[in-house]
Amino acid sequence: MRVIETGCLTLEPQTAVHAEEMFAVLSDPAIYEYENQPPPSLEWLRTRFTKLGSRLSANGREQWLNWVIRRPTSELIGYVQATVHPNHRAAIAYELSSAYWGRGLARQAVQAMISELAEHYQVHILSTVLKRENLRSMRLLERLGFSLASPEQHMEHRVEPRELLMVREIERI
Ligand SMILES: CC(C)(COP(=O)(O)OP(=O)(O)OC[C@H]1O[C@@H](n2cnc3c(N)ncnc32)[C@H](O)[C@@H]1OP(=O)(O)O)[C@@H](O)C(=O)NCCC(=O)NCCS
Repeated sequence: MRVIETGCLTLEPQTAVHAEEMFAVLSDPAIYEYENQPPPSLEWLRTRFTKLGSRLSANGREQWLNWVIRRPTSELIGYVQATVHPNHRAAIAYELSSAYWGRGLARQAVQAMISELAEHYQVHILSTVLKRENLRSMRLLERLGFSLASPEQHMEHRVEPRELLMVREIERI
């Protein structure tokens, strides 16, 4: 994995060294309005980041890529994540500290990861599942060129009734 520079953000490949700073970022309750929970302890997060350091699923078939997002002032503000499947499809996720919402930073970080996935991991289909009420995430995805998947794709991915599947095809480079 490479360090990715965008206009005003740096995406650093996530390692256990980031655990302490990221524990503070991920303890923001606003992030969990629709799903997930904050990490239970710093030790738990360090162990998790150490495991994720393999960058692979347990069966070795998926690449698990995580980048933390750093601002020029040097603080970490969140992460972007991709699960890259052998068929060149990737599922993505992202979380940003609420102090930085509404500034276009998530869009910049996620777009930078998408370009990296297209150029260096040969990804050409992106998808993500979100809770229906998560309008902020929905708007972000729409601005990034994602659209709602078909009912058939929802069934194929076993998407729950409370969730939506958004997809985007990337032009091959
Ligand atoms: C989803 C999440 C990353 C979106 O963050 P965000 O700050 O709303 O997204 P952006 O950084 O793109 O900011 C967009 C807003 O900034 C504004 N903005 C300001 N300057 C901008 C710029 N240069 N470019 C784009 N947008 C800009 C936009 O108008 C936009 O507001 P709008 O949505 O009301 O139109 C964030 O809400 C989050 O971390 N949520 C919790 C975790 C989560 O839900 N993850 C997704 C699970 S599916």
